[in-house]
Amino acid sequence: MPTEPPIIDLTNKRAVVAGGAGAIGLAIARKLAGAGAQVFVLDINLDTLADAPGVEGINVDLTDVKAIGRSVKQVRDGGGLDIAVHAAGSASDQTH
Ligand SMILES: NC(=O)c1ccc[n+]([C@@H]2O[C@H](COP(=O)([O-])OP(=O)(O)OC[C@H]3O[C@@H](n4cnc5c(N)ncnc54)[C@H](O)[C@@H]3O)[C@@H](O)[C@H]2O)c1
Repeated sequence: MPTEPPIIDLTNKRAVVAGGAGAIGLAIARKLAGAGAQVFVLDINLDTLADAPGVEGINVDLTDVKAIGRSVKQVRDGGGLDIAVHAAGSASDQTH
């Protein structure tokens, strides 16, 4: 399938996608990277990122507020943060 050209130039922009290894998040991460952004995925499972050029995984449990702070600081300290996307979650109806 031909790749559509990006509709926006995100060169030199840095993006975080929480839950970016999942179905919705990975699609967003790929689009951001395709538009030139440097993309960091925060996810507890990074297995799907092997075939996602321009996307760097950071393993973090997003229920751990301190871990979120550390990972976002890691990204910001590396050159800033321009875009934040939240796509983590679960469709499970289990109660805890
Ligand atoms: N796919 C749909 O059609 C749809 C429709 C409506 C709502 N949603 C909701 O949108 C969200 C994302 O959907 P999806 O289809 O991409 O789901 P998905 O399961 O494919 O992806 C969710 C991602 O979140 C990550 N994640 C979950 N808990 C985490 C945690 N504690 N720490 C770090 N990462 C964690 C998972 O590892 C996974 O990569 C879900 O909450 C889902 O219920 C999805």
